[in-house]
Amino acid sequence: MRFLSSRRRHPAAKVLLLVAALFAVGALYAAVAPTEQSSAEPATSQQVTEGRELFSVNCSSCHGLNGEGTSQGPTLQGVGAAAVDFQVSTGRMPLAQPGQQAPVKPREFTDDEVAALAAFVATLGPGPAVPDSSQYSTEGLTDEQIAEGGELFRTNCSACHNFTGQGGALPEGKHAPSLVGVSNKHLYEAMLTGPQQMPVFSDEVLTSQDKRQIIAYLDALHQRPNEGGLNLGSIGPVSEGVAVWTIGIGCLIGFAVWITARGARAR
Ligand code: HEC
Ligand code: HEC
Repeated sequence: MRFLSSRRRHPAAKVLLLVAALFAVGALYAAVAPTEQSSAEPATSQQVTEGRELFSVNCSSCHGLNGEGTSQGPTLQGVGAAAVDFQVSTGRMPLAQPGQQAPVKPREFTDDEVAALAAFVATLGPGPAVPDSSQYSTEGLTDEQIAEGGELFRTNCSACHNFTGQGGALPEGKHAPSLVGVSNKHLYEAMLTGPQQMPVFSDEVLTSQDKRQIIAYLDALHQRPNEGGLNLGSIGPVSEGVAVWTIGIGCLIGFAVWITARGARAR
């Protein structure tokens, strides 16, 4: 191949070119891919109607037709859209068996259905709305602020979730789950709504900024790729995908080029 055997260009130039091309493809994908519906958008009456139907089929047996609660499940009046988004998208709800600690399981509803359920429950009483990505994005936080997040975590969370966020046992056979790999949104919502044994950390207890700092600390601790780190419009998972695509595949191709070059030299 002439391109690969050309001597004049520095070998790294080819790799850089390939990486740049991959990045362009990734960026294009990010621009074209459908973006998640903004959770801050006000709910439509159609969503509420759809949510009411889903609710009466899937949830009312335990929570009552109007979320007033039954002996099988607590009232949902005033828990807010954030609690529904958290409980349903982590698969905790609908609960399969009353009595057990609601386990995380594969979710049963699409994003649209979760949004509809949340919109319906939000009409039952005032409660926290689903946070929008600017609230749980960790972009722009300094190392110092992240370290402060660590302090806040050790003060407020480590008693149950362990110093490293690995989780731990609680009395009566319950447990606080590991926080490794939990999305920023679910971290924020858990603090906001306090599922089961977990206390509610309202904005008076931990401000929105405190919550962001805790999330950033956990991100750093668990070395998760920083959502929106490439700043491609902070679309979160999409830009993460771009990063994996560019860096991962870029490295593989770079490695392949390197091996070819070495092989050629050895011959
Ligand atoms: C088998 C009974 C059952 C079904 C079905 C069920 N839930 Fe629940 N739900 C519960 C129980 C019990 C709890 C309380 C868990 C706890 O706090 O220990 C709960 C808690 C919740 C909470 C948290 C309330 C809070 O105070 O933060 C939400 C939100 C919720 N359920 C929504 C739903 C939705 C939406 C559905 C339908 C998709 C559903 N549930 C189906 C039993 C059920
Ligand atoms: C009193 C103990 C306790 C404290 C303090 C506590 N949690 Fe929790 N946390 C729990 C329990 C119990 C659950 C599991 C609830 C369930 O199964 O629905 C939980 C669940 C969570 C989840 C959901 C994880 C998942 O797998 O979906 C997150 C995120 C979380 N906690 C974060 C925090 C953060 C951040 C703090 C500190 C600001 C904190 N928790 C403080 C007991 C606690």
